[in-house]
Amino acid sequence: MSCPRLAAAQCLTAVAGGQSLNRQLPVNEQSLPNQQRPLYRELCYGVLRHYWTLKAALKPCFAKPLKRKDLDIEMLVLVGAYQLRYTAVAPHAAINSCVEACRTVKKKWAAGMVNAILRRCQRDGDELFANLPPAAAVSHPQWLYQAIKKAWPQQAEAILAANNSHPPMCLRVNARQGDRDSYLHALKDSDIEASPCDFAPQGVRLHAPQPVSRLPGFAEGLASVQDEAAQLCTTLLDLKAGQRVLDACAAPGGKTGAILETEANLREVVALDVEDGRLDRVRDNLQRLGLSATLLCADAADTDNWWDGKPFDRILLDAPCSATGVIRRNPDIKLHRRADDIPALVALQRRILDALWQCLSPGGTLLYATCSVLPDENEQQVADFLARHSDAAEAPIEAAWGQARPAGRQLFPAVDGPDGFFYAVLHKR
Ligand SMILES: C[S@@+](CC[C@H](N)C(=O)[O-])C[C@H]1O[C@@H](n2cnc3c(N)ncnc32)[C@H](O)[C@@H]1O
Repeated sequence: MSCPRLAAAQCLTAVAGGQSLNRQLPVNEQSLPNQQRPLYRELCYGVLRHYWTLKAALKPCFAKPLKRKDLDIEMLVLVGAYQLRYTAVAPHAAINSCVEACRTVKKKWAAGMVNAILRRCQRDGDELFANLPPAAAVSHPQWLYQAIKKAWPQQAEAILAANNSHPPMCLRVNARQGDRDSYLHALKDSDIEASPCDFAPQGVRLHAPQPVSRLPGFAEGLASVQDEAAQLCTTLLDLKAGQRVLDACAAPGGKTGAILETEANLREVVALDVEDGRLDRVRDNLQRLGLSATLLCADAADTDNWWDGKPFDRILLDAPCSATGVIRRNPDIKLHRRADDIPALVALQRRILDALWQCLSPGGTLLYATCSVLPDENEQQVADFLARHSDAAEAPIEAAWGQARPAGRQLFPAVDGPDGFFYAVLHKR
């Protein structure tokens, strides 16, 4: 019999073993009928959001740590405890199906233990979840908790809370095919509640997430799913007819589409990414929008290999980063990212930035963007770049969103608001 709790525990086992949530979710979902899939997804996301809290709170319940091969049992316990602690599900349903799942995976020995732990969690939950270490209490790994606290003492509490919240679903209305007001009407006609985003001119925030198949004209390219923060890139690029534009780390193509929608008469848009498989997604996205770009698979920093020597008027570098601004959309980041990943990412960003600078025409603009909240990848990266390049000047971003920094502008993830993002506009003299 299919069991969404068991499927979730198996997905979480793979994620805890290093697999990405986005890749793994559809794998374990396959065994489930359609009506069980929303619960399965909710369990996977919910456990990952509260993972560090659940782990710390339940630690005293395990007589000794489980063996690696029994990670699925630990994940079943987390699934059950998540339901008991954070959802309104009837406790016996959560407990019984997790106990039953032990038998399904032929680990009868674990059934009694899982039953005892979940019953204790039901009985003594308030005690178990009280007085956790500060990082565990807000469900973050210690290093990330400290990094956020250190960088943003004023905003840390709100950032940490936003990281554990459900993200809003935002759309970008395709400016080539219609205006935002008309699309809001079309949504209303489809009984989908939505409001305009605060800062992105084409942005719409849905009051509840929807399958894209329900969105009016989605298949025809009338709208795309994209957070408000990511949409801001086109405003900052200041696109004009006749320009040659490079989207240097383009996959899956969210911003490539936004660029092409914003200015219909660009000379050429080159969308580059190092991962061939991810470029297929750029192709699919542009096809749905009825737009086209020159797609290249290459390491952006290795310009000898891909650049034709003709300068670009605009370059968007949406750099590979820690993704610490989009944790609420990708809660597995809290398991996978390590403190020592950051220096390697900073070095990669620096290498790409320096290489792309030579591809920019004098008078041109490079927009540096990340979905990170860590200053080393953002304002510090840009400050170091400006110190190395005497022909570079930063144009301060005047905006109603985010916070001006010594270099660039930082957006923080906010509950029901935008993702965490960083932007810096660099002009070449
Ligand atoms: C933040 S994502 C880009 C998201 C994309 N701009 C969008 O809006 O849909 C970063 C991308 O950089 C790519 N990447 C990483 N290292 C790269 C490199 N050296 N050269 C080119 N692309 C790279 C990754 O494959 C990934 O697709």
